[in-house]
This record gives sequence, C-alpha cells and structure tokens, in this order.
Amino acid sequence: MQSKSIREKFLQFFIQKSHQHQSGVPIVNKEDPSLFFVNAGMNPFKDILLGNQPIDTPRVVTVQPCLRVSGKHNDLEEVGVDTYHHTLFEMLGNWSFGDYFKEEAIAWAWELLTAVYHLPKERIYATIFGGDSQDGLPKDHEADSLWGQYLPADHILSFDKADNFWEMGAQGPCGPCSEIHLDIRSDGERKALPASELVNTGHPQVIEIWNLVFMQYNRQASGKLVDLPHKHIDTGMGLERLAMVLQGKTSNYDTDIFTPLIQRIAQIAGKSYHQSTTIAVAMRVIADHLRAVAFAIADGQPPAHAKAGYVIRRILRRAIRYGYSHLAIKEPFIHQLVAVLAAQMEGVYPNLTHQQGYIAQLIQAEEAAFLKTLGTGLHRFNHLDPSKIHQGVIEGRVAFELYDTYGFPLDLTLLMAKEKGLMVDEAGFQQALQAQKARAQKDAALSQGDWQVVHPSDDPSFVGYDQLAVTTAIVQWRTFTNKAGTAYQLVLAVTPFYPAGGGQVADTGVIRCGSESIPVVDVQKEHGLILHTVDQLPAQLELPVVAEVDPIQRTLAANNHTATHLLQAALQQIVGDHVVQKGSLVTPNLLRFDFAHPTKLSTTQIEAVEAIVNQKIRANIPCIEQRGLPLAAAKAMGAQALFGEKYGPTVRVITFDPTFSIELCGGTHVAHTGQIGFFKIIHETAIGTGIRRIEALTAHNAHHFVTQQSATLNGVANLLHHPKDLLQAVAKLLHEKKQLQKQLMGHQAQAVQQIIQQLSHQLEQVGDRYLLIQTIQPPHPHALQQIALHYKAQYGQIFVLLAARFEQQAHLVLSVSDPLLPYNHAHQMMQSIAPLIDGKGGGTPFFATAKGNNPAGIPAALQAARKAFVYDKRFF
Ligand code: ALA
Repeated sequence: MQSKSIREKFLQFFIQKSHQHQSGVPIVNKEDPSLFFVNAGMNPFKDILLGNQPIDTPRVVTVQPCLRVSGKHNDLEEVGVDTYHHTLFEMLGNWSFGDYFKEEAIAWAWELLTAVYHLPKERIYATIFGGDSQDGLPKDHEADSLWGQYLPADHILSFDKADNFWEMGAQGPCGPCSEIHLDIRSDGERKALPASELVNTGHPQVIEIWNLVFMQYNRQASGKLVDLPHKHIDTGMGLERLAMVLQGKTSNYDTDIFTPLIQRIAQIAGKSYHQSTTIAVAMRVIADHLRAVAFAIADGQPPAHAKAGYVIRRILRRAIRYGYSHLAIKEPFIHQLVAVLAAQMEGVYPNLTHQQGYIAQLIQAEEAAFLKTLGTGLHRFNHLDPSKIHQGVIEGRVAFELYDTYGFPLDLTLLMAKEKGLMVDEAGFQQALQAQKARAQKDAALSQGDWQVVHPSDDPSFVGYDQLAVTTAIVQWRTFTNKAGTAYQLVLAVTPFYPAGGGQVADTGVIRCGSESIPVVDVQKEHGLILHTVDQLPAQLELPVVAEVDPIQRTLAANNHTATHLLQAALQQIVGDHVVQKGSLVTPNLLRFDFAHPTKLSTTQIEAVEAIVNQKIRANIPCIEQRGLPLAAAKAMGAQALFGEKYGPTVRVITFDPTFSIELCGGTHVAHTGQIGFFKIIHETAIGTGIRRIEALTAHNAHHFVTQQSATLNGVANLLHHPKDLLQAVAKLLHEKKQLQKQLMGHQAQAVQQIIQQLSHQLEQVGDRYLLIQTIQPPHPHALQQIALHYKAQYGQIFVLLAARFEQQAHLVLSVSDPLLPYNHAHQMMQSIAPLIDGKGGGTPFFATAKGNNPAGIPAALQAARKAFVYDKRFF
C-alpha cells in the first residue's frame, strides 16, 4: 500500500465515523512563542482543548506534518542512526473535542488497524498509564479493561509517567495515554523472546506506531494539574512507521516515502546505500533532514542566524557535513533533492511543489556558504595551538568552538582527534554546551503569570474593523516579564485594537478607566486571544474601561497596508506572476514588501509599478471587504493567499477592483484608495538569495520625500544657472573637471621638475656630505616630501631640509640619509626646530615633517638646523 493511499484510508475511515477532515497547518508556529515548530497534530487545537475557543466541530481528522527538533519533543540525535525516528514526520490524527472518549478511541483504533490495514492481531501490544503518586493520579484501569476486549492480558502493559502520560510541553494540555506497539520481528525471534519484554526498550522492530491521548488536564506554570473543561481525545500515528509495517519493510527508509530520495543521493554520491553502515547512516540523515528543511522553507521559515531559522540552518548543516565527511561530496548537492521530494508530494503539499525552485535556490546558497566554513573549521582543527592540548587531550572548549562556530558535531571532532592519536575533553565540551543552552533558555524565558479573571467572558471579540473606541470590561490579566522588564497583559471583552499580524504593526492608543488614561504599548494575538500590553494596571480592575485606538496612526497604517496590496498586484503585472510575497511590514510611517524574484528591478520597471499604483489611487477604488467567506470560495475568486499562513475555515477577503487586487487579509484598509494620496518607492534592494525588498512611502510621507528631492534638484539647477538639460549639464561639468584635473597634474609635475633642477644649484658640500637647506614654493604641500625624497635617493649622504609656505602655514620636511644618522636624528631635530614656526612636528629617525602657524619663523628654523648640522655634530 503506497503512502498516498495509507493517508487516504486513514482520512476516509474517520470521515465515515463523522469526523471533519481539516488540512494540516504550516509547521512554522507563528502564534505560540513557546514553540518554534508544530511538534504534534494537536498544536493547532490547543485553544480548543484548553477551552479558550468554542468547540465548533467535535470530531476532526487531520494529517499534520510535525517537526521534532527542539524542546520537550526532540528526536534529532536518533535520526539516521536508527531507522524509525525522524525530524519531520507526518502524523495521522483523529480528535474528539468533548465528544467521544476512551471507549470509541480504542475501538476505532483497533478496527482501523486490524480490519482496514489488516495488521496481524497477535503482533499488536497496548500500553496503559500506570499512575503517578507525585501528580496524585491512579492507574488507568478503564483503558486496561477496554483493551482487554481485544487483546490478551500479556499484550497489555502498564508504564509510568515517562512513557504513558503525554504533555505538549512544560505547560499546557496533557493527559494519560495509551500507545499501540507492533512486533515486526521474524517468527523465530518472536518465539525466542516475547515482545512484552521489548516494548519501550528501543528495539528497532518492536515499535510504537500510534498514541491515543486522553486529554483531561492543563499543566499550569506551577506544575499543578487542573481539570480541563471537557475531556478530549488526541491521537497521533506516524505515517512513516505505518508505511514501513504495511509495506513489509523493517526500516522507514525502505518505504516509498524515502527510497526515491535515497536513490538520488546514492546516484549523486556514486555510492551504494548498502555499502557500509556509515554510508547508510549518512544517506538516511540527508534524506530526513532535506525533508525537514524543505517543509520549513515552504512554510515560511528559511535558514537564518537565530531562533527558528537557526534550528533549520543547523539541521541543514548537519546534513551537509554528513555528505562532506561520509559521502565525500564537497560540492552543494542537497538542493538537487528538492525536485525529488516535490514530485513525491505533488497533490499532497502544494506549497512544496509551487515553491520548489525557490526552496532549492535557498538550500544551494546555504550549502555553498557552509562548505566554506566547513573547510575553515577543518583547517583550524588541523592547526591547533599546542597549548590547547593537555597530555593528549584537546580542550573541550575547542570542540565546542568547532561545534558552535563551524557547525561541527562532537562526533566528527572526536573522530578527527582519534585520527591524530588525541582525545577530546568531552566533559568540558558538555559544560560549554550546557552553559550556552542555559544562556539560550534564559534569553527565551519570558515568564508569565497565570491568568487572573476579572469578568469571565466566553468569547472576547475584535470590533476594530468598524470601531476605534468602545466601552468594555477587563476579562482577565496576567503579569508578563521579558528582557524589558515586567508589564501586564489584558484581555478585553470587546476591543478595537488591531493586534500585530499579517505584517501590520499593532494599533497604539489608550485604555481609559475613570480619570486614568493608560497607554497601550503593544497588542499581540496569542492562542486566539488579543493581549494588550500596558505598563500599569487600572486601580479598579472591575470598572468599565474605554478602549481607544489612536485614529491618526491607524489611518496612516491603513494607507500603507492598502498600498502594499496595490504594490503586489502592480508587481505581478510588470515583473511577472511569480512575484509572491515573502514578507511585509506595514507601519504608520512606511511599507516594506519582500518578494521572490531573482534580479534587480530596472528603473523602468520601478517607474511602471509606481505609475500603476498611483493610477489606482487616483481612481479612488472602494474597498470591498468580505468577512466570513469559506476558504474554498475565496480561493475560487482568485484571492491571493500567503504560503505558510494558517487560514481558518472562513476568511476575510479584501478586494480593490476585482480585476486588480484580491487578497486574503486580516489587516486594516482605507475605504477608498484616493485617501492614500500618493505612493513613492524609495528603495529596491536584495535581502537574500532570490529575495528583493521594496520600501515605499504614502500620503504626506511620500509627498515630503518628493518635495525634499525636488528642493535638492532646484538647488543644483540654481547653481548651474538653470540649464535646459540639468542631467547633461552635470555630466558635462564632471567631464570638464576630470580634464582639468589631468591638466593640473601635468603642470604640477612640471613645476616640481623645475624646482628640482633649480635646487641642484643650491646643493652645498661639507666634506663628503651634502647639505640642502632651502625655502621653496612648490605647487602643493605634498611636493615638499617628493622633492626631499628625490634628493635622498640621489645622494649617499645628504641632509635635506625644505620649507614652504602655503596660505598662512609654514611646512617643513626633513630627510636624512642613513650614514648621517648617529648625529642627525630627523625626528628629534624636527621636534627641536618646530617651535620656531609655532608648530609641532616629528617622524622617524630618517624623515620628519612639521607644520606651524608662523611662516615668519621659517628662516630661524632653517638657521637652527644649519647650525646643528654644520657646527655641532653632537647637537643631540
Ligand atoms: N499528541 C500525541 C503525540 O504527539 C498524540 O504523540
């Protein structure tokens, strides 16, 4: 059974049991600061489980890609070394939200596995929760007896909290669980040892395939368990493992999900997958990691230097290193696998197929960049400072630096050390790693208190599309601490405040309570709630409050948001349909729009885009806003959606002229485009491989920008006496300037030559030494030095002191040839005569200069030097 039909059968089975199929959400988690990536099928339903969101659909079935690479659920180290863990995997899940519970969940799991997928019953084992005294929870007797209907007692095993109590993270929904394990060993092995001995021991052929979680509790920040408002079912089955079993394989990598990737890697490497364990592990790692990286990029998270982007970068670098060290591939190659993956996922993950060119391009650039540091890291290791090696052991900090700066995993450093007959202080490495992790955790820790409820409300609402001020009440509040300090977050029963989202920054404004007026410093959306950050709480929380958005800032932001839509549509007309939004920022002051396009826009293209946008502004097009449109209907209208954005079943669509711009959008917009007044692009730059950024202004900001530019131009035209063609006049001026400079330099060189000639008549000879002390008038100060050095080069023993006057300044240059040095030290002599010209000077023993404000002192200075040279050889 191919993976496509395995997915399909799962969905169909639960659809027949009245579940609604919902598509998986993007794996990049934008709404939950505690989680970079979706790590379980239940993430998008967290608010429903917690009771923050009403239950619209009590039974749901999904296929959800999950990434387990950090935090509580992290499988990274197992990947490739074994054959059944992955960074990215697809989780098949069925949900009951306050509807059915353990009995149906277990019965249907059994039915699906045995009657639909036809798994042999005698190979199935179930585990149940054995209870936990610390949490005060009893053993799950109910699950035990439910399983008893299907399985013999020796196939039902009880485990403790570590294995059979599922939690999303340190906080949040959780509950006891019951896992289904399969024994896929040979008959001989099965006879020799019952699988009940092997469940949960890490045996590669006695593995968990499905987890049924009985969601009942919310783990609070304090660690305390609180009952959820309803009991829910959350299940998750790994598609890759199920495929392995159903395709009669013993490794996930031998299924149709992985073989095309492995084959392509083998082809590029010119090596066979079965050649050696090292090679097999490397190929598995690369195939697995490529999937994770490609999905993340498709869903909007490219590799980057921090946070979620850094997680993706590390995964990719790990894969690159495996290719470099174990498959001896020194050139970028992983990007070539994107096409293979995209073909496999055709029709299942359209995001991936649509963006494959872009994904491959980003991966290739990352590969090229890391292959450079990989080489440097190896070089660094091969040229280690001996003081970092103590009795054959390399300092842990070195291994950590290689790991941290050059992306070398510890195992590679250990291997390289071994080849040199050295060891690595692994404890030191771990210490440095732990210290870094602790730092990272500290940075991330934004502690927040539990919610304090003031006026309970089922359904706080946003009215900001229609109203800018409302009288309302505080529903709940909590303390909120981040690097900036402690503040408060409020939820209001009704709010006009637009929370940051879709690129648009949050509204600003105030919350009034009695005579108090408290500024709202930030507004964020989290788990469906709108959180207003304030530095201070109203004195009487129970009183009504007036929430008031700053109307001017809102208008300016709306101008820029609408202009962003017009810009995107104009870009698609002028540059091409491939222009897709990669990022955007809308503030009251400016708009920024990032889009995928390989080359710089020409001036003509930019002007054409500006012309279209301004024409649409002048046409004063009304905004057509449609709320609550079914997603499918919106897509059928041709509405632009963002890759990597999570959309609910119904969406808001913003149209400015149905033949021009239709976008899914939650932002605030102008009622008529005419309000924007004027649009002006001020920058067009590259911000990454294949991504361009446009910055633009609207309304008075755009006007101001153009006014300034025009004032500058007028100024220039004025200076040039208003020529007919200003551009040509400036070009002509520059050309003339260049010509004149050339001429001038020619004349100056001639003048210097003349001075040199004249000076040669002034040369004095004292014994076998030459002396040249003169005041001259060269064309520029630098010529003094030129002339002095000319004489030094010509005569073996010469003392040259030249003086000149430029404007009100006296300049001196002194050059002394080596044999005269013991007596005539240029630096010291210059220091002693410089005061005579009211100046300061110095240099080296051979050459010194001085500058002073008293040109009248020049003769005295020259005289002093002459005396020193001629009469007193022991001057110093
Ligand atoms: N939430 C459960 C898991 O991720 C199903 O394993």
